[in-house]
Amino acid sequence: MSYRVETATDIASCALTVPIQDEVWSGDVAVPPQLMLAIVHNGGFVGLGYVDGAARPAGFVFGFLGIYDYHFRHHSHMLAVRREHRGTGLALALKEAQRDHCLDQGIEIMAWTMDPLEALNARFNFGKLGTYAREYHRDFYGLMPDKLNAGLPSDRFYVEWPIGMDRTYKRLRGEDHPPALEGAEAEGVRYLLRAAGDRPAPQDPPSGESHLLVEIPSDFQGLKRRDASLALEWRIAARGAFEEAFGQGYAAVEFLRAADGRGAYLLVPQPRRAEGPAETK
Ligand SMILES: CC(C)(COP(=O)(O)OP(=O)(O)OC[C@H]1O[C@@H](n2cnc3c(N)ncnc32)[C@H](O)[C@@H]1OP(=O)(O)O)[C@@H](O)C(=O)NCCC(=O)NCCS
Repeated sequence: MSYRVETATDIASCALTVPIQDEVWSGDVAVPPQLMLAIVHNGGFVGLGYVDGAARPAGFVFGFLGIYDYHFRHHSHMLAVRREHRGTGLALALKEAQRDHCLDQGIEIMAWTMDPLEALNARFNFGKLGTYAREYHRDFYGLMPDKLNAGLPSDRFYVEWPIGMDRTYKRLRGEDHPPALEGAEAEGVRYLLRAAGDRPAPQDPPSGESHLLVEIPSDFQGLKRRDASLALEWRIAARGAFEEAFGQGYAAVEFLRAADGRGAYLLVPQPRRAEGPAETK
């Protein structure tokens, strides 16, 4: 299937995102097209993804210019592809178009938030794009009414995507792949959190390991529908594991999958930042 990405520059094209927002999340969280247009006029980006021959877009991406840690970056607020067009490569094409927009502006980092328990998003963001996360936010957006998020605290990773780095180009071209989860297990990488059957089973806290694993459910949306209290148990257990590890300086740098469908984040210690000016003699 072939598709193209068009940049939205007027109100009519920004308005084309609204039915997709409704379909994917529901009307409660829609970003008004007027606000999108104002953002587009101030360095932001709305990309519409069309499957060739179709009159209405099959997906979109939306982000705005931000400042973080004294530097400009692009914050990507929404990415959505209609269900029937998922798995086609359109989502990746939308992120690439957004990346090109940012590189043209001289911006080399994009960022967004994601629910760390969504395995598809973890695979897409970490595995296919090459993001990493070093911040965990409890209940970031508060209780959300939409169909993907209703009923649970909206804990989020703040993921960062270094779009100027060689590794990112290689990931996008499919030339660099994350290792398999079985490989990490065979090397003895320890779990901070793993599944025991359906249930989360927290393990010992970090104690200086060079690599750690945090398992997540393979289908969190399905789990929420089946058993809301077990989904909350996972939310709390994952929160405990990530807060503990990130608090000790670890970052999540990969999402590893096993042939049987299990998936786990790989955590490594971040390089330490210098605490002050170097001592001079
Ligand atoms: C997020 C979204 C835009 C991605 O688009 P997509 O077409 O589904 O993405 P892709 O198929 O290119 O990539 C998803 C990957 O996850 C994999 N995947 C699917 N289900 C999975 C699961 N349960 N566990 C692990 N990986 C899974 C897919 O196989 C694919 O990997 P592959 O290409 O190696 O096979 C789309 O799913 C969507 O609109 N979701 C709802 C809105 C949303 O969550 N937006 C993003 C907020 S950060």
